[in-house]
Amino acid sequence: MMRTAIRGDLLDLVADPGLTSTEPRAVRFDADHWLLIEGGRIVGRQPQDPGDGWHRIDHAGRLVTPGFIDTHVHMPQLEVIASHGTELLDWLNTYTFPAETRYADPAVSRAGAALFTDALLAHGTTAAVVFPTVHKVSAEALFEAAAARGMRCITGKVLMDRHAPDGLRDDVEQAERDCIDLIDRWHGRGRQAFALTVRFAPCSTPAQLAMAGRLLASRPGLYMQTHVAENRAEVAWVAELFPQARSYLDVYHRHGLLGPRSVLAHGIWLDDADRALLAETGAQIAHCPSSNLFLGSGLIGWQALADRGAAVTLASDVGGGTSLSMHRTMAEAYKVQALNGLKLSAWALLSAATRGAACALHLDDEIGSLEAGRSADIAVWDWAVGPVAALRDARARSLHERVFAWITLADERNLAQTFVAGVSRHTRAGRALETA
Ligand code: GUN
Ligand code: ZN
Repeated sequence: MMRTAIRGDLLDLVADPGLTSTEPRAVRFDADHWLLIEGGRIVGRQPQDPGDGWHRIDHAGRLVTPGFIDTHVHMPQLEVIASHGTELLDWLNTYTFPAETRYADPAVSRAGAALFTDALLAHGTTAAVVFPTVHKVSAEALFEAAAARGMRCITGKVLMDRHAPDGLRDDVEQAERDCIDLIDRWHGRGRQAFALTVRFAPCSTPAQLAMAGRLLASRPGLYMQTHVAENRAEVAWVAELFPQARSYLDVYHRHGLLGPRSVLAHGIWLDDADRALLAETGAQIAHCPSSNLFLGSGLIGWQALADRGAAVTLASDVGGGTSLSMHRTMAEAYKVQALNGLKLSAWALLSAATRGAACALHLDDEIGSLEAGRSADIAVWDWAVGPVAALRDARARSLHERVFAWITLADERNLAQTFVAGVSRHTRAGRALETA
């Protein structure tokens, strides 16, 4: 059996750290240890060199974390990242929908999926909940690309049978057949899982939402992903389209789409009854701070969600979001809450991108920490890149201060190497690191 040991400063979460405490109670930090990996799984850690029987990769002085989990990101939208001048509904019509129509072409889907999964790995992200496009072939290409890289991917073809341009609409019957076929061939195959992928309530007829709800209940372990309450004009439109629903979130609830494996992006414009419904059903909010700022969508009330017991995880939402980096995402999340008067700890931020996300996805026995038994999905980082970050790192007086500066100042340029199931899948260009 292949045995690999990685040396570095090992950092992960072992419990829920809460939102604001800077005390490292939920944190495990073992400076200069060897993380031991056998057969693609973490088996332990130790301070001493494990010796010749192990393939040793020496990252002394670097930080070793679980690979990040991005709970909401759009594969085809790398093409429209950083598009100027619009809010959500105009942004969709002007930039996003035209770009997505190209993914009907299998060659475009395959090239896009390869670029996208490689880009995730180059940002230290080893698991993701992903929107491809309405085209079955785009979901197929994404599953294939993730499987080829050993990555955990939760995805499904996007459901949208109205309010979208030609070439980007499906219908209930064809969509159902496509979903069932994808479920049969990909759900639970290796590390892949299928998600009923409802674009958002305005793009699906009630009949399509009902079909998605039926399918969600048809097999254990299926996920559901969608968007909710992102933008005020969007919320007003949903109220017109579904006058009988109590709220935007209630549209999904009425169609059987809220459950413990439901991932709803944004959730900015919710009320207290909505937040209680999230907690009751176990559905999570994928908070996308860089997108919320970039599209001028609003400032989410993380504290109110947490007070109600609703899970909040972190997501890039590229291309509404402006970076695949979960460091940038965490740093933007801190700033969004700073505007709300809440000072999130480094531990809260890190948790929402690792162990907390794994828990909310019911995958915490597999990913999100460096605990023995977990898949060896690991990222290795420089603590600091450049003289300013190096100075700040040297001045840190506590572990929290050091990790918070790292979260705030680092990005994918700090990434030295990414492992998926113990296999090296990315190394920094220009520096040939030895691989497993
Ligand atoms: N709502 C419906 N579709 C989208 C999308 O592609 N991005 C974002 N940010 N919101 C959406
Ligand atoms: Zn999105």
